[in-house]
Amino acid sequence: MAIKLNINGKVLTADVDPDTPLLWVLRDTLGIVGPKYGCGVGQCGACTVHLDGQPIRSCQAPVSAIGAARVTTIEGIGATPNGQKVQAAWSELDVAQCGYCQPGQIMSATALLNSNPKPSDADIDAAMSGNICRCATYTRIRAAIKRASG
Ligand code: FES
Repeated sequence: MAIKLNINGKVLTADVDPDTPLLWVLRDTLGIVGPKYGCGVGQCGACTVHLDGQPIRSCQAPVSAIGAARVTTIEGIGATPNGQKVQAAWSELDVAQCGYCQPGQIMSATALLNSNPKPSDADIDAAMSGNICRCATYTRIRAAIKRASG
């Protein structure tokens, strides 16, 4: 079934089973590989993208449920003011270690700043608790979010 999607400002068509999770459509059908597969069950946050500005787990969203909503991935978040600030802070503070979870971390961090421009440490910890990092870069993630909000 041909499904139209609005991704990073472009309308793209994917010919897929409507039950396919968005993550697979992004990565395997459309070649948008920034969102990562970590757990596949909504627990790790590596696959986080924005749907109309809200963070979602793309491994848990059937592509048929997306409709006309705007999908933003790590490939497109730098075109938004907070996405640009977050990516700059991530780079300045060398947040990434292995890097695998970082697209999801950046998407969650940007969504946080979009809803809360001056988050406290507790706000950051609450907003980022669904994004797991095996390298434990959490201290740098918090510092980068603080810098991006400064
Ligand atoms: Fe989607 Fe882990 S891959 S939450």
